[in-house]
Amino acid sequence: MKTIDKNKVVAEHNFYKHNSEVLKQLFGTDDVSSFWLADMDFQIAEPISKEIKRLADWGVFAYEFNAERVFEAIVNWYKSRHQLSLDKNSFLQVSGVLTGISLLIQELTEVGDGVLIQTPVYHQFASIIKKTNRRVVQNPLMFHNGRYEMDFADLENKLQTENVKMIVLCNPHNPVGRVWEKQELQQLADLANKYEVLIVSDEIHADIVYTGSKFNSIASLGEPKHIALLGSPAKTFGMHSFSHGYLHIRDESTRKQIREKVEILYLHHGNAISDYATIAAYQHGVDWLDELTTYLEENIRWMDDFIKRELPMLKMVKPEGTYQVWLDFREMKLSKDELNHLLTDNAKLALAPGSWFGKNGIGYMRMNIASPLNNIKDAFARLKAAIDHKSGE
Ligand SMILES: Cc1ncc(COP(=O)(O)O)c(C=O)c1O
Repeated sequence: MKTIDKNKVVAEHNFYKHNSEVLKQLFGTDDVSSFWLADMDFQIAEPISKEIKRLADWGVFAYEFNAERVFEAIVNWYKSRHQLSLDKNSFLQVSGVLTGISLLIQELTEVGDGVLIQTPVYHQFASIIKKTNRRVVQNPLMFHNGRYEMDFADLENKLQTENVKMIVLCNPHNPVGRVWEKQELQQLADLANKYEVLIVSDEIHADIVYTGSKFNSIASLGEPKHIALLGSPAKTFGMHSFSHGYLHIRDESTRKQIREKVEILYLHHGNAISDYATIAAYQHGVDWLDELTTYLEENIRWMDDFIKRELPMLKMVKPEGTYQVWLDFREMKLSKDELNHLLTDNAKLALAPGSWFGKNGIGYMRMNIASPLNNIKDAFARLKAAIDHKSGE
């Protein structure tokens, strides 16, 4: 079955990441190819677009409340994809993962409390923590032999001394591509239990996992008391602007508290199009996802080979999951501004500067590779030309 058209560039539509004003604001120019945002250039799976067309043709949009059916589809998905049994009654519907994180922070911590993140990490975490007037507490990841690991000694120290009330975990991790192993999650959960800190596990990238790695949900650990998980079909099925997300909280009193808030804000009043599209995605999108994952692995293999052969001063942190690739430019010994200049002005590429994700991201760039291989080849040809030119200066 051929579901992903590898040559079709659907990116020409003026979506946010290609929007001229946005590019000028972020990169100072719109004369760049975009690889900075974590969305997808491919068309969604046919069963999803069929479902959307069916609704559009029907043309009646009376009130509809589908959360139960959405949760059933998610439960079946977790069971078949991740061999994990979840109870549909533990789910709550929200309009996106960030909405869910913001809600949990606001409801379960106080102004001034510490919320811990493992940097370099998805930059919106720090942004939400600051906007809600909590304190960002960083537990920097350690980079060992080309692989990122959690620093448990630093974590315990921060939990002891920084009035931390919540850990926002990113699994799989954006931008460094780690898919956390069960034993790592267990160690994290043991510390969270010991210090009575809630782990909020953002698992939006759960389904993009490469050969050799296995996704483990935080909900697969025994202890439910200090755990909430969040997910969405956005990354899995390219449904980035569908505004759909879910929370899964097994602890009854915490769930009751959050449910009340969700109901006060009427966040559970879903959107019929995204509900039906989500159900179609989880019920019928698996072949498309498998094909996507294979395609992404080919992109990664090509990049790995090209970088080793043509750009040995650059290191690719091989992702275990996610379609974000973390590129290490530190050997080039460029300042933050010089690196941005090389990428944006010389190579004419818009990648996400590593500094967005924390201080320890300086010297790195995040590249979104959910794009046709031809686009990626073109980007690397430009990058090589820019680097060759710089070395000849
Ligand atoms: C780790 C992570 N969480 C959340 C989001 C955004 O989720 P949503 O649009 O559902 O709020 C992203 C998008 O890049 C992400 O990478």
